Amino acid sequence: MKNKLTLLVIMVITPVFLFMYSNPDDKKHGYIGADACGMCHKTDKQGKQLDIWKNSAHAKAYATLATESADKIAKEKGFETPAAKTADCLKCHASGHDVDASLVGKKFKVEDGVQCETCHGSGSEYKDMKVMKSREESVKNGLIVYEKTEDLCVKCHNSESPTFKEFNFDEAYCSIEHSIPKSKK
Ligand code: HEC
Ligand code: HEC
Ligand code: HEC
Ligand code: HEC
Repeated sequence: MKNKLTLLVIMVITPVFLFMYSNPDDKKHGYIGADACGMCHKTDKQGKQLDIWKNSAHAKAYATLATESADKIAKEKGFETPAAKTADCLKCHASGHDVDASLVGKKFKVEDGVQCETCHGSGSEYKDMKVMKSREESVKNGLIVYEKTEDLCVKCHNSESPTFKEFNFDEAYCSIEHSIPKSKK
């Protein structure tokens, strides 16, 4: 009886594992870091995305956690670690703090906070010029594009944020917009 049960369990579990480990979409995309994206996305012609981002609040989101007022908020929420070491704060304030070191490039810094790849997807497989030039190929290799941009923003801009007041998408989007100039397209 016991043996039959064991066999049954194995029969049920094995296909599940086989499926998990043979999923062809399960490519290992790694983070390369904002400065690596910025190698190409910094010229006037491209639209200076690196500068625009560096001057945005997103680039400072990790630094914000490394402050006394952030630690105070974390403590009030019942966390025993400083804010910059608390996963429940980092999940909206930084990327890559929880990924395997083998998936993190030399230029990647968790201190860069909410960076290019937080929103666009980790870029080790789409960062090459010949891939980037084709949107289709980029998406196949990990670039994320959004049907409704607001859905991306409200993943973090919501009442789960301890300091949340409100989020006005149109206004907020204007202040972080970093399009490629139309003249180039
Ligand atoms: C080797 C140069 C290069 C690097 C490095 C690079 N890109 Fe690009 N990227 C391009 C070029 C060229 C385009 C196409 C621009 C155009 O449409 O004129 C592009 C397009 C894009 C687009 C627009 C895609 C679309 O079709 O809507 C996004 C978003 C983007 N890159 C993000 C990133 C991010 C994030 C990184 C870092 C992980 C990165 N890029 C690294 C050259 C690069
Ligand atoms: C991964 C989480 C995350 C996502 C996704 C995100 N944000 Fe943010 N955003 C933050 C954090 C964290 C801050 C606060 C940074 C600070 O002040 O240190 C912030 C700050 C801002 C600010 C500065 C003003 C303010 O409210 O403090 C604007 C504007 C903004 N975000 C717009 C957007 C828009 C527009 C989108 C969607 C396109 C977006 N964000 C997506 C996490 C995120
Ligand atoms: C759900 C996503 C999310 C989580 C979780 C989160 N934050 Fe934030 N945080 C944000 C966003 C978005 C902003 C900017 C707008 C706002 O205040 O909602 C922000 C802003 C801040 C600010 C700046 C406030 C200001 O007025 O300038 C501090 C400080 C802060 N967060 C600390 C923390 C701490 C500490 C934790 C963990 C206990 C935490 N956050 C968890 C998303 C988040
Ligand atoms: C808070 C999220 C966020 C961050 C951080 C961010 N982007 Fe974007 N980016 C967007 C959104 C949203 C769009 C609009 C296109 C879309 O909805 O997919 C966009 C558009 C772009 C485009 C295409 C513009 C066009 O005209 O087609 C490029 C290129 C780009 N981003 C590069 C970067 C680079 C490089 C960085 C870092 C230096 C960066 N982005 C950081 C959210 C972000």
